Amino acid sequence: MEISKLKIVIFEDLENIRSEADCGAFHAKYLGKAGAITEAMQSLRNLAAEERAKVGAEINIIKRNVEAGFFNIQKTIQEAEINRKLMADTLVDVTIPDLNKEVGSLHPITRVTREVVEIFSSMGFIVAEGNEIVTEFENFESVNVPKHHPARDMQDTFWLSNGMVLKTHTSALQNILLKKHGPVFSAVFPGRCYRNENLDASHEMAFFQVEGMMVGEDISIANLIYFLKQTLSQVLDRDLDVRLRPGYFPFTEPGFEIDISCAFCDDGCSVCKRTKWIEFGGCGMIHPTVLEMGDVDPKKYQGFAFGLGLTRLAMMKYGVNDVRVFNSGKIDALSSIK
Ligand code: FA5
Repeated sequence: MEISKLKIVIFEDLENIRSEADCGAFHAKYLGKAGAITEAMQSLRNLAAEERAKVGAEINIIKRNVEAGFFNIQKTIQEAEINRKLMADTLVDVTIPDLNKEVGSLHPITRVTREVVEIFSSMGFIVAEGNEIVTEFENFESVNVPKHHPARDMQDTFWLSNGMVLKTHTSALQNILLKKHGPVFSAVFPGRCYRNENLDASHEMAFFQVEGMMVGEDISIANLIYFLKQTLSQVLDRDLDVRLRPGYFPFTEPGFEIDISCAFCDDGCSVCKRTKWIEFGGCGMIHPTVLEMGDVDPKKYQGFAFGLGLTRLAMMKYGVNDVRVFNSGKIDALSSIK
């Protein structure tokens, strides 16, 4: 083949190299011992001296260019092949937990907490969060339960050696919020509480409450009832009787117990202790002393507060008739609660 034609064919073939196999074939066809370029070099000896020098120089240039292009392409293809093999051979770290395991689900109490908080926040309440370890002042004195007050016995308290306490109720945040946001604000604050209780179907040592307060001018019990009804009917999504009966809390005046009709029975069961009602929380108008301790003038401002048992709300919502299920740590039982 004429040198000029050979050159065109070689560069066309060079452009079509796609794989290592193509590289092998190309090398054999043009650059190998029996390759066309090698042959062309050997056929030089048949030419006259002058012609030989001219064609020889031409073939040498072609050879150099072809080799440069070929080795470049071969290198790129080999690197790509190595990378492909490396990727295919990659071993997942065998110490990583099974990535195909089912993902977890939110704890029912977390779900109900979020729902309650969202409802209140949509009604303009600030969402706050307190500590689980609080001072004696926050838990008791600031809500009108001074030292040696008999009301301290209402909540069997876990004391820490440094004099602080595991929060017995979310009301421990009231004073902080009054000082921070008062005198006009509304807030909702969920949290875990601890009491040294005898455990039964409706009492746990660690349980959740959600507290709400609204402070301002012209706040009344009617506002409190409105917000409670709105929230409870939305969260429980069923027709429940709610009753307020007079109740005593040192931090309210007047105070009420909030009960809702038992969702598990018509005529009494272990959850409602055969009363057909489940105590759900407390509420009332904030005691003037509590406002005063929070630097809010009780002559000018009033407010309501309520504290609901979130754990009991979750029991009602999901039809769980024993509060201890929530703290059981049994994933199967908890994830089946829908
Ligand atoms: C209080 O804790 C008051 N701080 C609530 C309050 C706030 C009243 C603001 C007035 C104004 P009480 O001790 O009744 O109140 O608890 C409120 C609710 O928490 C109870 O009705 C109950 O639903 C829930 N609760 C209390 N103890 C436990 C417990 N051991 N296990 C599960 N839930 C509990």
